[in-house]
Amino acid sequence: MMLEKALRWVRANSVPGAGIVISSRQRSSYPEVTGYFIPTLLSVGYKGLASQYARWLLSVQRDDGSFGMDGDPCGCGFAFDTGQVVRGWVTMIDRMPSLEAPLRRACDWLVRSADSSGRLPVPGPGGAWSLGRRGEVNEAIHLYVLPPLRDAAEILNERSYREFVGKSLDHYLRNAILTDFRQPNALTHFYGYVQEALVDLGCDAEARAGMASVAELQQPTGAVPAYHDVEWVCSTGLAQLALVWFRLGETARGNKAAEFLSSLQSGSGGFYGSYGVGADYFAAEEISWAVKYAIESVQRQISSHFDNTATSYQSDISPSDARVEAVLQRLGDLNGKRLLDAGCGKGRYVKLIKQLYPEAMITAMDVSPQMLRHVPQGIRTVQNSILNMPFADGEFDAVICIEALEHAVQIEESVRELARVLAVNGKLIIIDKNAEKLGSLEIPSWEKWFDTEELASMMREEGLEVSSEFVGYDGVRRPDGLFVCWSGTKTCHKRESPESLFLEKTRG
Ligand SMILES: C[S@@+](CC[C@H](N)C(=O)[O-])C[C@H]1O[C@@H](n2cnc3c(N)ncnc32)[C@H](O)[C@@H]1O
Repeated sequence: MMLEKALRWVRANSVPGAGIVISSRQRSSYPEVTGYFIPTLLSVGYKGLASQYARWLLSVQRDDGSFGMDGDPCGCGFAFDTGQVVRGWVTMIDRMPSLEAPLRRACDWLVRSADSSGRLPVPGPGGAWSLGRRGEVNEAIHLYVLPPLRDAAEILNERSYREFVGKSLDHYLRNAILTDFRQPNALTHFYGYVQEALVDLGCDAEARAGMASVAELQQPTGAVPAYHDVEWVCSTGLAQLALVWFRLGETARGNKAAEFLSSLQSGSGGFYGSYGVGADYFAAEEISWAVKYAIESVQRQISSHFDNTATSYQSDISPSDARVEAVLQRLGDLNGKRLLDAGCGKGRYVKLIKQLYPEAMITAMDVSPQMLRHVPQGIRTVQNSILNMPFADGEFDAVICIEALEHAVQIEESVRELARVLAVNGKLIIIDKNAEKLGSLEIPSWEKWFDTEELASMMREEGLEVSSEFVGYDGVRRPDGLFVCWSGTKTCHKRESPESLFLEKTRG
C-alpha cells in the first residue's frame, strides 16, 4: 500500500542524527522539507524521528533566527524555509519546551523580514526561484508560511504574529494570482502549496476556484499535468492536489489523483520528481517532499472516506450485541472512571456506557468530524487520529478501540499510543476482525485485519497482560471467528523510549 511503502522510504532516507535527505541523489538534509515533515511523522506515530528532526533543525538555525540552504550564494535566510521549520516546531513544542526560544526567534525573523504590507522577501530575479522561460516561482507560495505562524501565535500567545498573518494574507489576496492554473509559472507543486494554504487560512471559496481551474485539466486516469501546457506530471503536485481535493470534500477527484500517484510509486516507496515526455522537475531522482504529500494524501483519503460515508454508520447498538457485552463485562463499573473510545464513530458504544454509568468521564475521539457530530451531548469529543493523541501518558483508566484499529494503517504505533494513554492497572479493549477471515467481506484498500497472536504480542510489548477470544456481533450470538476481542491490563509503563526504537528501525 502507498502509505506503508512511503514510510519505508522515510525510514531508509532519514539521515542519522539529522533530517530527511533532499533526494535519492542529494543525501544531505535541508531545513524546509525536514521542517514540514515533522507533522507528517507525528501523524503516523513516528515520534522519535520527529524529535530527531526537530533537534537537528536547532543545530542549523542561523544567528538571526532564520533558515536557509547551506551553500546558497546569498547566504541569507529564506522566508519559505523558515516558515516550514516553524510548521514543524509548533507541533513539537509540547514535547520539547526548549524549542520555545528558537521558535520565537524564527517567527520574529519572519515578521521582521517582511515589508510594511506583509509581503515576505523573495530571492532576486534569476536566483533560487527562477523557472527560466517560465519566469519566477509565484511568490504567493508564501501563503504557506502563514498557517504555521498563526499556530505559533496561538501557542506562544503572541499578538504581533497574529496581526502579521492577517496583514500578510490580505496582501497576497489582493496582489497575487492565486486561482489561475493557466499561468506559465504555475507548477502543480507550487500551486498546491497555495491551494492548501488557502484552505488552512479559511479561504475555501478561493481554494475551490483554484482547484476548479486545475480540475479542467485532470485526465480520466487521474493525472494532472505539471503545468497547464505540458503532458508530464509532477508527483508532489499531484499528491498535493489530491490532498486539497480530499480536504474540500471532492473525493472522486482526490481518489483518481491518488490512484494515479500510486501507479507512479517506485519499489523503494519513493517518487521521482516528475514523469513523462519532457519531464524536467527532478525527473531523475526520488524527492523527499513527494513522499510527505503522498503520506498525507492517503491519510486524508481515509478520513474523507468516513466523512462521506458517515450516514451509513449506526448511531446505536443493541445492549445484547455480544461486543457490547464483552466490553461491559471486562470493564466493570465505570462510574468515576476516565474512559476513552478511540475511533468512536458516532459514539454508539459510549452512548450506552453513559446511560449505564452516568458518572463515567468519557472522551470520544475520531478522525472524522462528520462521525463526531453524532456523539451524544455530555460526552467530550476530540477530533484526532489514534496515532498521535493529544492526551497525557496514563490519562485514562480504560480505553476501547472497536473496529477502528483496522483503519489506522500503522498498527504497532497505534497500539503504542493506546497503551501510552492508559494508566497502570487500566484496561484496553480492542475489538476487531480476524485476519483468517479476510475475503469474507469487501473492504477498502487500507483496511487490515489481525492475526490474534500478533496483535496480542504487540500489546504485550507495551506492558499489557493480554487475553483474547472470539466474540459474536450484530445478530450473530455464537462467535463465528470473524470478530476477536483482545483485552489487556496495563502492568507497567513501557520500558523503552520511542527514540531508541526509531533509531534501531532507521538503521535497520
Ligand atoms: C467502522 S467505524 C467504527 C466506529 C465505532 N468504533 C463503532 O464501532 O461504532 C471506524 C471508525 O474509525 C475511525 N478512524 C479511522 N482511522 C482512524 C484513526 N487513525 N484514528 C481515529 N479514528 C479513526 C473512522 O473515522 C470511523 O469512525
